Amino acid sequence: MEFENIMLTKEIPIATIQLNRPDVLNALNHKLMLELVSSLEELDADDSVNCIVITGNEKAFAAGADIKEMAQADTMEMLSRDSFSVWDRIRRVRKPIVAAVSGFALGGGCELAMMCDIIVASESAKFGQPEINIGVMPGAGGTQRLTRAVGKYKAMEIVLTGEMINADDAMRSGLVNKVVPTELYLEEAKRLAGVIASKSPVAVKLAKESVLKGHELSLKDGLEFERKSFYMLFSSADQKEGMKAFVEKRKPQWKGK
Ligand code: CAA
Repeated sequence: MEFENIMLTKEIPIATIQLNRPDVLNALNHKLMLELVSSLEELDADDSVNCIVITGNEKAFAAGADIKEMAQADTMEMLSRDSFSVWDRIRRVRKPIVAAVSGFALGGGCELAMMCDIIVASESAKFGQPEINIGVMPGAGGTQRLTRAVGKYKAMEIVLTGEMINADDAMRSGLVNKVVPTELYLEEAKRLAGVIASKSPVAVKLAKESVLKGHELSLKDGLEFERKSFYMLFSSADQKEGMKAFVEKRKPQWKGK
């Protein structure tokens, strides 16, 4: 399969997927997500691959869902597109996924990293859920997975202020596994993937599934609620204003409705 928005490299028994929209800080448009999910499914079915690394570039893992793609949408359109249903397929990948994060991991970018099983961060990584700055809220798992990872109070701060946290803070909060010098983050992620890939693939798959079962209990209801709430916000004036202001590179004027 030919990809336009990602690059796939196999170094058997590991494979690396690089998000590749550098001009827009790897903003996750629908096409990129379809390519990412298709390649993950292909690798999941490939017996020569035991562990997968997802990375971006030094400046950005991903700066979120593509704002320009959804700025004009209304609730009905968001419901009918249901673009986050593609993301659900990442949860069904049975092989472990290591995220190698440098630069911005914001909004959907942070949520994508959190869908991976291990997060290696470069010391220049910045994590955040800045959706509140554009009149919406996390919609691809952020309120649920972040809260489970860092606890209620830190999650509230990140989600409600929209401020980014640096790699050390993310490490202290339990969001990332390790922080390494920027020139080493991909190498370290691949090293960990190699260690995992050297174990019994069937044991690794079942172990991953077991950890996730413990982690995801009662997650379903929360995610459904979050998704509907996210779509609901597309009937608010503040969503229109927030996203329009972003595109026009100015401060939004909130209406509070
Ligand atoms: N969507 C679309 N385009 C984006 C983008 C996004 N999420 N993030 C960055 N870009 C684009 C910019 O529009 C810009 O494009 P142009 O050159 O055509 O103007 C390019 O990437 C470079 O960005 P900046 O010039 O803004 O770079 P910067 O270094 O000054 O700032 C940044 C970097 C702070 C990350 C800033 O780009 C930013 O705030 N991005 C948006 C972050 C955000 O709000 N993410 C959440 C999206 S909504 C979401 O993810 C919902 C969900 O739950 C799934």
